[in-house]
Amino acid sequence: MDIKSFLKKNFENTNFQDNELKNFFINKVGIKKNLPDIIKIVHLFANDPLITQQTVLSKLNILKEDLIKLNQEIRENKELQKIILKMGSGERYWNSILPFAKHTNKVLNDDFNFPLRIAFFPGVSCMFYCGFCGRNQDAKYPSNSAEIGIQQLKSVINEINIGSTAISISGGLEPLTNPHLGSLITHAKNKGLRVPLITNAYSMTPGYIKKNPGLWDLDSLRVSLYGVDENTYDFVTRSRKSYKMVSRNIIEFLKIKKIENKNVKLGLNFIILKENIKDIRKLCSFIHYLNKESGSEIDFLTLREDFGSVTGHNDSLDKQRKYRLDGILDLQDRKLLLNELAYLENYKSKNFPNINIDYGYALNGLINNRLDYYLVRAEDIEVTKRGYSQLSVAIDLFGDVFLYREAGFLNRDGNKDYIIGRLNKDNSLKSIISNHLRNYNEAYIKDSNRFLDSFDHLLTKLVTQASKDKEFGIPFENGPIKQRSETVSINLGNNWYS
Ligand SMILES: C[S@@+](CC[C@H](N)C(=O)[O-])C[C@H]1O[C@@H](n2cnc3c(N)ncnc32)[C@H](O)[C@@H]1O
Ligand code: SF4
Repeated sequence: MDIKSFLKKNFENTNFQDNELKNFFINKVGIKKNLPDIIKIVHLFANDPLITQQTVLSKLNILKEDLIKLNQEIRENKELQKIILKMGSGERYWNSILPFAKHTNKVLNDDFNFPLRIAFFPGVSCMFYCGFCGRNQDAKYPSNSAEIGIQQLKSVINEINIGSTAISISGGLEPLTNPHLGSLITHAKNKGLRVPLITNAYSMTPGYIKKNPGLWDLDSLRVSLYGVDENTYDFVTRSRKSYKMVSRNIIEFLKIKKIENKNVKLGLNFIILKENIKDIRKLCSFIHYLNKESGSEIDFLTLREDFGSVTGHNDSLDKQRKYRLDGILDLQDRKLLLNELAYLENYKSKNFPNINIDYGYALNGLINNRLDYYLVRAEDIEVTKRGYSQLSVAIDLFGDVFLYREAGFLNRDGNKDYIIGRLNKDNSLKSIISNHLRNYNEAYIKDSNRFLDSFDHLLTKLVTQASKDKEFGIPFENGPIKQRSETVSINLGNNWYS
């Protein structure tokens, strides 16, 4: 019995009475009774980690009390847990959800918890004008905030209890526009934190690296790759010199890394758009070229879809921009993409077999032949002013604390609704969050889901699921997943290379 193929079948067309299937669960998994209801629950959760208990019940012909008992049986069976968490199309989502799921009760009860994840946005400005990016393209921080801001961010790092919070450095704007970035990285590393950085690498010249040796204290450095040659780069960034600068910088970085025997993992992120699906073949030869020229190797490649911060939203929003993109990928695009991804896998196995390819949430479903598997998207009504500061926040150079990451762009229209306080000598992150939890109001605002990136969409849906399950009378503790219970301890992963 090939369990992965079984899980890929559409729920409605699956024969849960099939003898081979039942035998597998009886003999290999050790389930003696309540088949096929158990198999149905496993199938549903393996593919849809965000499904509510109410929906599960509507698909089974049983009572709520029976569902609670079946959940318990599934929760205590290690094999079933493995099948749900590791073998279905939801695998990538499960991976991200688990460390946060067990803390959703704190969110629902407004209990304090220091955030599990903090995104630091130390950039002063940005030199690119990417069409999908939510930044206000007219905005930049005053240059004197660069150093003061870094001191504020360091003070937040001092508040962190190592092992309970993971951090990342990104934007906001472009982190390398801050000349003091290296010292922030070193400070975090010295405190025992693993530091990943996301950058467009335009400023990552050998000169910048020399002035910021802290870059070598990174755990990983992810370069956002916006094209594969001059024209494609110019199309996305609207900067004619961007391709030349970035490709040269990556090669030089890799060379120095090799000569100086540094450990930082260097990877590339490529956002797949309607306009660039066909460029995946050139992306393959570009990676090959970077490896060859540098005599070293790119460690990982992350592939992502446009999560729709700007694309697909009303033209009257986020007007301060040079251009917008046509739309997000449709079914036709995804079919085409599947073909190009097969090319990539084949090319990889021949030319750079050691690279780790991370397909992200939706593309992971796609490579498992699930064309219907789209990025999870939360609705405006779920994007509350309560947020989930116990799980995740973003902080910028002014020390402003944002509930949602795509709100963390300086002077983005409407983002002030999601700032819960500003750090200063009297206001620590802890006190800002405690105060917020006592004073927020529940209102939501139209078009607010543009303030979510793909991670925030996922967390928002997770909190909605937890809230609905609790209301329905089957909270996470009584659901089918053991690792969503508060008593289980889980590692907070934050890397793209393994
Ligand atoms: C906002 S950027 C800030 C850091 C830096 N300026 C850069 O571009 O890498 C952070 C990451 O989000 C990605 N990003 C921005 N808008 C996106 C969207 N609508 N969909 C998917 N990824 C997006 C960027 O490509 C980048 O990898
Ligand atoms: S995605 Fe990064 S590089 Fe592009 S405009 Fe936004 S902040 Fe700048």
